Amino acid sequence: MILNTRRPRRNRKSEAIRAMVEETRVTTDDLIFPLFLIDGNNKKVEVASMPGIFRLTADLMLKEIEECLKLGIRAFDVFPAVEDHHKDKTATKSYDQNFFYLRALREIKKQFPEACIMTDVAMDPYSSDGHDGFVKDGKILNDETLEILGKMALAQAATGIDILGPSDMMDGRVGYLRNILDENGFTEVSIMSYTAKYASGFYNPFRDALDSAPKFGDKKTYQMNPANRSEALIEAELDTQEGADFLMVKPALAYLDVIRLLKDNSSLPIAAYNVSGEYSMIKAAAQKGWLDGDRVMKETLLSIKRAGADVILTYFAKEFAKGSR
Ligand code: PBG
Repeated sequence: MILNTRRPRRNRKSEAIRAMVEETRVTTDDLIFPLFLIDGNNKKVEVASMPGIFRLTADLMLKEIEECLKLGIRAFDVFPAVEDHHKDKTATKSYDQNFFYLRALREIKKQFPEACIMTDVAMDPYSSDGHDGFVKDGKILNDETLEILGKMALAQAATGIDILGPSDMMDGRVGYLRNILDENGFTEVSIMSYTAKYASGFYNPFRDALDSAPKFGDKKTYQMNPANRSEALIEAELDTQEGADFLMVKPALAYLDVIRLLKDNSSLPIAAYNVSGEYSMIKAAAQKGWLDGDRVMKETLLSIKRAGADVILTYFAKEFAKGSR
């Protein structure tokens, strides 16, 4: 038998050599940890469909952030879970400086100025319709929504946060927000655009966490069709022209090809959102003993990075940081 002289297994023969030729590495610097904020004091409520993930009041969130900073997680994306009686058609609470979300953001930046804080710019947590846009006669209106997003973005920027995350897929929102931020002196606030956000079944646990499911219909007139790839390039081109600092693909796992597509076609940093349902699947299987949760978590994050993501938003951030010490 004549064997080819090339034997790729030589580069796998020991731990030291395997580490030497390792092509992709995930570090805590790559990760953004999404956090769920609730109103009140000293409350910690586990999200039923996301074992290990809690909705926290501001006082406990400050402690959580402090712990994470010690573990090397320096970036956080804070989402508010708003009680129903505070929701209305125009998301009024989203730009009320006395509302608990904006108060908490100010406090977080005051105590941890070195932490990178990202916020969510979208109507759904505050909307009585549970949609990301202003609803009239059963339709989601684009330009009317932008005006509300503008007020929300300015209110968030005024708290001192670092990155705005417009997550609603309205047309023109990145340019609209960049403009209004600059006009008001917030030239240093970054925009991480949810560029290719798909109408996905993987968001359900998140909607449980925020109690933000749409009250009618679905989100298919604004979020993208999972079947589409070229359309992601159109969105990326627009977001780039409009001034985005990062482009994001969401969800991550079922869209690894889209992450690679944007990476190969853009010089902006690419982020990927390893969403709630992707977290829940691994947790549920691990709880049943069907998968080794720790191993699959690491493999998953690696796959997202290998696909081309520079930044990963993931509910595994803290767990990963603990394991990598
Ligand atoms: C909505 C928003 C969603 C997520 C982040 N912002 C869900 C949705 O579109 O309904 C999902 C995040 C996750 O599933 O982890 N503005």
